[in-house]
Amino acid sequence: MRIAVGSDHRGIQVKSKITELLGRLGHDVTDAGVHESNPVDYPDIAVKVANLVSRKEIDRGILICGTGLGMCIAANKIPGVRAAPCHDDLTAEMSRRHNDLNVLCLSSDILGEKLIDRMVEIWLTTEFEGGRHGRRVDKISKLEEGR
Ligand code: RB5
Repeated sequence: MRIAVGSDHRGIQVKSKITELLGRLGHDVTDAGVHESNPVDYPDIAVKVANLVSRKEIDRGILICGTGLGMCIAANKIPGVRAAPCHDDLTAEMSRRHNDLNVLCLSSDILGEKLIDRMVEIWLTTEFEGGRHGRRVDKISKLEEGR
């Protein structure tokens, strides 16, 4: 899978760990920054990754900031992006099964390394169920078109 991972200054270490994990799992990984610990504005990174997803240049995005919240709010402004902060196995799984989440947002301040690894693996291997959930996701897409 083509996956871009981005973080603000609060998420750099988690980003490195996730990038390593994705490499080990055989994915095609893009590190969208940041690379230095100077404070940056999370929307700048969120938009970078979200645009890649929106243009279908990658399959999925992963965004990390202190809480996972700011990244999520910003990424969801980009058409075609379905981003949410997940915090355990169940939200990682259901975000794929029911919401076809294409951008996973994670908190560097709250989540531990083992949990993040497990959530990322679950999130990458769980299929969207479609059916009635497809109808609901389509309704969300139509909101972007003002319908
Ligand atoms: C940066 O201080 C912090 O606000 C950011 O990492 C994130 O938690 C925003 O939602």
